Amino acid sequence: MEYKLRKAEPRDVSDILRLVKELAKYEEMEDQVALTEKDLLEDGFGDTPFYHCVIAELQGDDPKVVGFAMYYFTYDPWVGKQLYLEEFYVMDTCRGLGIGSDILRHLSDLAMKTRCTGMMFVVAENNEPSMQFYKRRGAEDLSQEEGWRLFRFDKDSLVKMATPTEE
Ligand code: COA
Repeated sequence: MEYKLRKAEPRDVSDILRLVKELAKYEEMEDQVALTEKDLLEDGFGDTPFYHCVIAELQGDDPKVVGFAMYYFTYDPWVGKQLYLEEFYVMDTCRGLGIGSDILRHLSDLAMKTRCTGMMFVVAENNEPSMQFYKRRGAEDLSQEEGWRLFRFDKDSLVKMATPTEE
């Protein structure tokens, strides 16, 4: 199967959303995907993109998007620039062909070019195959080794803390 990696373009938002939903389904959290194509279009392709995507596309008369990674840049006050890998997915029919490793190579090149000192990501605790996939490539499990815990303020909590708006 011949494929190429390329930067996502606005026309890719429906494929990106399709793959986001497939990954959520794989993680048994499909009902939590509230995002729309419009959100993806506004948030990823304006003057200040909130995310970037690299797309894996099968070549041929009818090219098909079969995998992607969504990422952005964050900053660690101890060591500086970091690449944050938010989503990483290859359709099951195309797994094991090296597409995922190629995407990681692409992101590692980008990280080197932009002088990032690391790539961060979160893995669901029950996703053992992908933990092993990352560990085989040298990833460290910081929850286990350093004891970090993942926190979030949801929107209700933010509204409670935010300056009250006039009704
Ligand atoms: N399915 C999955 N992995 C297979 C496989 C198959 N049918 N057949 C072989 N493998 C092995 C490969 O030999 C390879 O082993 P290695 O780590 O020793 O190199 C590895 O699994 C897959 O490598 P590669 O082909 O480069 O990656 P990929 O294109 O399969 O993509 C993932 C890797 C993790 C993106 C992909 O498996 C995936 O989408 N998984 C489900 C979603 C997921 O868990 N995403 C990560 C969320 S944190």
